[in-house]
Formats: sequence, C-alpha cells, structure tokens
Amino acid sequence: MELIIAKDYREMSHQAATQVAANIIVKPELVLGLATGSTPVGTYEELIKMRKKGMVDFSKVTTFNLDEYIGLGPKDEASYHHFMFHNLFSGINVKRENINLLNGLAKDPEAECRRYEKAIRKAGGIDLQIVGIGQNGHIGFNEPCDVFPTVTHIVDLSEETRRVNAKFFKDKKKVPTQAISVGIGTIMKAKEIILLANTKEKAEAITEAIEGPVRPQVPASVLQLHPKSVMMLTEQAAKGLKRIFDKSSKFSYIEKKVL
Ligand code: F6R
Repeated sequence: MELIIAKDYREMSHQAATQVAANIIVKPELVLGLATGSTPVGTYEELIKMRKKGMVDFSKVTTFNLDEYIGLGPKDEASYHHFMFHNLFSGINVKRENINLLNGLAKDPEAECRRYEKAIRKAGGIDLQIVGIGQNGHIGFNEPCDVFPTVTHIVDLSEETRRVNAKFFKDKKKVPTQAISVGIGTIMKAKEIILLANTKEKAEAITEAIEGPVRPQVPASVLQLHPKSVMMLTEQAAKGLKRIFDKSSKFSYIEKKVL
C-alpha cells in the first residue's frame, strides 16, 4: 500500500488526475473504474482541463462506474448516471459505447448485476480503479458487513450512508434504500486502485482502513492486501495515522510522499 499525502484538496485532485492521465498515455485503451460523490469531482475537473489542453485522449478508454441507486434513472439528478455525464463524460472525448453504467431502473436488478459483472470480465477487468471512502469505511456501496462481498450485488444502504448522502437529494426523504454495487472481489481484481479521501470526517475511517486489521466491518481495509493500492489523502484525512504522525509509534512507515 502506497500512501500519498497532499497538502489540500486541489493538490490531491491534481495528483490523482495526473496518475489517471499517465495510465492512459501508457495504455490508451485503459479500462478505468470510476466513483461518484463529492471526493472525485476535483479530479474529474482536472481531467477535463487536461483533455481541453490536448494532454490526454480518452477515445479508446472504457469506463465502468462502481455503483448506482436502485430506482433512479439517468434523468434523475441524484443518479450516478447523471452525475457522471455532468461532472466528467460531457467534458472528455470518451465514446458513449465505451461508457458502462449500472441501470438503476433495471426490472431485474439481479440480472443487471450479472450483466455488469460479465461486461467487466469481457473488457478484460479493470486496469485502474478510483474509489472514495464512506465515513463508515465503505468502498463502492460495499457497506460494513460480516463477509467481503465478491461480485456486483444488491446492497441495503446503511442509515449512516443514507444520512450522509442526503445532501445530494433535494427531497431528503427520497434517498433510496438500496443500490447496486460492484463487489469487493471485483474491485480487488483491478490492477491498480487509487483511494481518494480529503475531509476530516474521513480521518477515522482512513485510520481504521490503513492501520486496523483487515476486516469486512471496515471494507476499505481490504486494500491493505492489494499489491498496488494507493491511498491518496489530504493532510486532514490522514491526520489520525499514527504511523505517520506519532513518532513514538511502534509501527513502521509504509511509504510517505509529500507533494
Ligand atoms: C460512490 C461511491 C462511494 C463514495 C463514498 C464517498 O460512487 O462508490 O463509495 O465514494 O460514499 O462519498 P463522498 O466522496 O461524497 O464523500
């Protein structure tokens, strides 16, 4: 696990976008796993700027998003489908046929999970996966539970996640109770994973995920087992890490790069 601690959100976003762009330059037909939520918005803005300057070409890139609310369609402003077109896809030259999103309105959500999992496999798996982290340690919508979910599946959202995500809904009562999420097993099969976290509200989850034991009650802790996972944090999100900030800590350093 590599740890990158940026001074602030702008630097974290710039670093993440640079890493995504570098991967596309090395492999133009990159299969890119994407997240929604507030955290990656700055990264997506940077990628749009890079595209406008001709620094990166998405024409051969394939994307897969991590999750979608059950019951929300593309026209719903709170849907992740809408979020992605608004915050990224409309500003880059990715081909529509190469964009993969979960259908929150699928009549048979179980079949939708199977379709998506198959599509990821057909594309050869994810090369680079971007994830955020919930205050409860979730990645994708893999909520704390007793066993790590493997493949794309239906999730009952926790009350905490629904409360935190209510900020994206005009009518707070309309926060869905279920979602479809790519599973931990599929995320872990990505060749590289970048986790982004920038606020102090994430500090506890980040400490648990990096310094605590690997356990499904803190889903992000599984990234400790990945051969190429990068925790890209701001100082605020990293402030609970003993290994970095407590000199008397018995832990050894993983790796620290200050931007
Ligand atoms: C969204 C997703 C979630 C978010 C997480 C953090 O696609 O997969 O795991 O990354 O809930 O959300 P924000 O960035 O809004 O704090």
